[in-house]
Amino acid sequence: MDAERDTFQPIDMAEIYKKHNSLKKVEAVINPRLKERDAILSLIPTASVGAEIGVFTGMLSEYLLDKVKPTKLYLVDPWSKLHGERFPNFGAYSDHGKLQTAAALNAVRFRVKRFPAAEIVQEFSQKWLAEQPDHSLDWVYLDASHKYENTMNELLAIEPKLKPDGMILGDDAWTKRGGRHYGVFRAITDFCKQRPFELFRLDQYAQWAIRPIENLQPQPRSVVRVVSTSRP
Ligand SMILES: C[S@@+](CC[C@H](N)C(=O)[O-])C[C@H]1O[C@@H](n2cnc3c(N)ncnc32)[C@H](O)[C@@H]1O
Repeated sequence: MDAERDTFQPIDMAEIYKKHNSLKKVEAVINPRLKERDAILSLIPTASVGAEIGVFTGMLSEYLLDKVKPTKLYLVDPWSKLHGERFPNFGAYSDHGKLQTAAALNAVRFRVKRFPAAEIVQEFSQKWLAEQPDHSLDWVYLDASHKYENTMNELLAIEPKLKPDGMILGDDAWTKRGGRHYGVFRAITDFCKQRPFELFRLDQYAQWAIRPIENLQPQPRSVVRVVSTSRP
């Protein structure tokens, strides 16, 4: 992969799309819902240290870097370490299994190269988290497997790495029992029952945010906004 990095230095996305036709197809049909994430991203302080866990092709990463302007953003995804040469068949999201992990990684490299704060980490979430110093992260945006067990284990692994006034945010907390991403909602609510955290934001776009309770000033109820998401 590093050898390819040396030889493939695209000047624009068109060049990447030319090399990776599946990436072009995927990005023509998927909707990264960037505007839907504005409200949740506005909770993140600027000049902070954060991580996006689950990066894929880096569309959100670039938006995050531009909008939040962190001093450091770790972009953590195992890509080929988990999926091999190609992503599994996620339907149109992976061009039915034809999308190469190298294509996604090349897109991320290109999208974030103008941001010195960005560091791409090809690793599994839990392995990377275990290597981080305690209380070193202001926030984590979690958008990885969406499975209940993985999400719960990731939340448990993030907890000690978070600063006392930090927060964990993420995507796809679908509130309808049996819905495709219900596991995310179940994991964050179970985590908040088991650990000293509270869900303080869940919006109609299934964007969520939780934070440690201990160090909070009492909050007026109106600050806490939890609604049922419209996702199935
Ligand atoms: C839904 S996509 C992320 C989308 C991206 N955050 C965005 O908004 O454009 C999920 C990603 O999670 C990654 N993933 C799966 N298991 C993971 C793990 N254990 N650690 C980190 N990332 C993981 C997958 O490789 C995939 O790229």
